[in-house]
Amino acid sequence: MDIRQLVIPLTIASYDELDAIERQLVDEARKMTYNSYAPYSKFSVGAAILLSNGEIVTGANQENAAYPSGTCAERSAAYYAHARYPEAKFRVIAIAARDTSGIYTPQPISPCGACRQALLEYETLSGGDVKVILVGSEKIYLLPSIKSLLPLAFSEFD
Ligand code: THU
Repeated sequence: MDIRQLVIPLTIASYDELDAIERQLVDEARKMTYNSYAPYSKFSVGAAILLSNGEIVTGANQENAAYPSGTCAERSAAYYAHARYPEAKFRVIAIAARDTSGIYTPQPISPCGACRQALLEYETLSGGDVKVILVGSEKIYLLPSIKSLLPLAFSEFD
């Protein structure tokens, strides 16, 4: 037997410690929570993706009466980003949320498993790491890549 530890690098930061573009992404993700359509969960999520062409593409969760037909903020942003700018690489994604009482979550929220898998596809296509900014009002988590959020990810080629 060979027991290993898989370690995830995580930086905990405050808004003021971010650089200008990171702060802009946080602001855009927070703003996008107001474009969420979440009548069922009342949990509003916003995402903002910085692309290699300098564009910032945003998304918000979109729910549906048939619950599984809804989609998360991260995938709504990622799918639109790649549909709109198929040549551009993903560089950074920021994710923010407001809880059922309408306030920004004190703790960062983290993408669901399906979003991690979807985002990993675009990180691979981008040929480099996509930085992740998980936004809480009390603290912000910075991760160096999507793959750091999805250890032992499926790949046909390994
Ligand atoms: N949701 C997101 O948009 N992103 C996440 O990272 C987690 C969950 C959405 C899905 C659903 O509309 C609501 O939040 C409650 O789960």
